[in-house]
Amino acid sequence: MIQPNRTTASAAEITRQLADVKTLTGGTREFAFTRDDFDRIAKLIHQHAGISLSPIKFDMVYSRLARRLRATGDATFADYIRRLERNDHTEWETFVNSLTTNLTSFFREAHHFDLLKDHLTRLGKPTARIWCSAASTGEEPYSIAMTCCELYGSMMPPVEIIATDIDTNVLAQGQAGVYSEDRIEKLSPELVRKYFLRGTGSRAGDVRVRPELQKLIRFSRLNLLEPNWSVRGPLEAIFCRNVMIYFDKPTQYTILKRFVPLLRPDGLMFAGHSESFSHAVDLFRNLGRTVYARADSGR
Ligand SMILES: C[S@@+](CC[C@H](N)C(=O)[O-])C[C@H]1O[C@@H](n2cnc3c(N)ncnc32)[C@H](O)[C@@H]1O
Repeated sequence: MIQPNRTTASAAEITRQLADVKTLTGGTREFAFTRDDFDRIAKLIHQHAGISLSPIKFDMVYSRLARRLRATGDATFADYIRRLERNDHTEWETFVNSLTTNLTSFFREAHHFDLLKDHLTRLGKPTARIWCSAASTGEEPYSIAMTCCELYGSMMPPVEIIATDIDTNVLAQGQAGVYSEDRIEKLSPELVRKYFLRGTGSRAGDVRVRPELQKLIRFSRLNLLEPNWSVRGPLEAIFCRNVMIYFDKPTQYTILKRFVPLLRPDGLMFAGHSESFSHAVDLFRNLGRTVYARADSGR
């Protein structure tokens, strides 16, 4: 059963949160933050993770990184940026984790999971390998796992799910598989009963995915911008949803080009609801409803 490990917010954390609120509500900033600081940070995160930060994110960036200045003891944003430029590896990880956007949910864009079922049925292959390339806190790979269990009528379906993300915090949450109950309130009671355990005692109000489901997924860190990916083909499906939206078109194209040889010729690539790859028609053909096939597949 779920182990109690809940902590209450410390005084220091409350002070930090109040400082963030003060910033967001236009109060005096604790650290000077100039447009030049913002631009330098935007350049660093873009070079490293592909994430484009528009100036509209100015306050969000201040709020998230002011915490890092407090933690590192840097007196100014210029000092903090110098720390990153000196390649402080630990800080780079936290810096990136601080600037990602991790919004996700179980069965988000639900039609994709119905299409995945049809796709796997049609392929009828002994073991399907599916890559979830921006897995965030795990709801997406667990939704894929539940879909496969439902399809095969077994908690041990013949699938291997590779769940990756650049953000190590969200990966740890995904790996743990613990969620607050409100995250599953839209799931049918049957799915909840089959795939989740309810927390008790100090864990009341939380649920945890069943270990059988966790066993189907391998979580690991992968930056889509890095030249060497640990994921190998052939894959029956790639989920790359709601992450390309943060990248510019040339970056999207480079990543899509690298997807092609990993995906089986008759495989499917699932994108996010507002993502469109009309600039990469030589690589992927739009099948509708943000599902893509390899352009060379004849599908
Ligand atoms: C908005 S979430 C999308 C989650 C999920 N795919 C969905 O659609 O619900 C975007 C995720 O992309 C990840 N991400 C951002 N840049 C990345 C990169 N360069 N490589 C891998 N993942 C990245 C973020 O950490 C975040 O968890």
